[in-house]
Amino acid sequence: MNCTAQLAGKKFNHVIMNASGAHCMTAEQLYEIYHADTAAIVTKSCTLQPRQGNPEPRYTEIPLGSLNSMGLPNLGLHFYQNFVQEAQQDKPIFISLAGLSLEENLEMLQQLNQHSTTAIIELNLSCPNLPGKPQTGYDFQRTQQVLEQVFSFNKLPLGVKLPPYFDIIHFEQMAAILNQYPLQFVTCINSIGNALHIDPATDTTVIRPKNGFGGLGGQYIKPTALANVHQFYRLLNPSIQVIGCGGATTGLDIYQHLLCGASLVQIGTQLMIEGPGVFTRLLQELQEVMQEKGYTSIDQFRGKLKYWEQQNPTT
Ligand code: DHB
Repeated sequence: MNCTAQLAGKKFNHVIMNASGAHCMTAEQLYEIYHADTAAIVTKSCTLQPRQGNPEPRYTEIPLGSLNSMGLPNLGLHFYQNFVQEAQQDKPIFISLAGLSLEENLEMLQQLNQHSTTAIIELNLSCPNLPGKPQTGYDFQRTQQVLEQVFSFNKLPLGVKLPPYFDIIHFEQMAAILNQYPLQFVTCINSIGNALHIDPATDTTVIRPKNGFGGLGGQYIKPTALANVHQFYRLLNPSIQVIGCGGATTGLDIYQHLLCGASLVQIGTQLMIEGPGVFTRLLQELQEVMQEKGYTSIDQFRGKLKYWEQQNPTT
């Protein structure tokens, strides 16, 4: 069974990795997932300086997923840059950048370019949890400005993490912007922003920041994630690959992300719930699904989602 993949000029032993934010802030967590059955790892979204983030409780599991308003707690760019330098690098490492301003993102990118980091860059355009800071990916003009500046100097392999879109015209507008730049990939999707969960016993919100509003992850968001993966797979230049993220809890979920066109699949909420052992289970289950369906490599089915008419030709 061949589950290998290629992205951003690098080889991946299989297709499953963590999602940024899940089990990837401290050195201990990073080494744990680096030594687990991951195809690659991505670091917690970072800023130039370390940050404490929002007051706790700021992450909680809810019936079909998770709600978080972390507020970008991270150890600062230099910590993640050093981690990449120290790691053995037998698998690709992504550094996730989430500066609080365009200038901060450019400064971080400049430093990474100057040090010729071996990391792939996932530029986060979709953090929903910073009061007063809109999600860049929902502002099309702003997104264009960011990419224009980034690609005025950047030489590193770079992709963007997008928020979920919900309207066909928005997929088309965003794809038209992304197609103007030498992006290696897009990651679809970040959490569904600013959701609210209420504890039925106490009529109370369940996380402290922002009156309980937070990013929704887990099984709730799989249909939205698959829709975003498939739309961008269809609309983007073939040179821009898609990384799927959202609601994968089984090997079948991974398979469906790949069927929608994903080249790699990231695990967030389920990694938080299950810990780093999740990767071994998911890879095993993915291989079982492929075997049942008679596939021996991912190329045989990636992006080959069938539409209803294909399966019902005479009706
Ligand atoms: C945080 C949450 C996100 O969804 C994200 O993309 C970046 C940061 C956070 O709250 O820390």
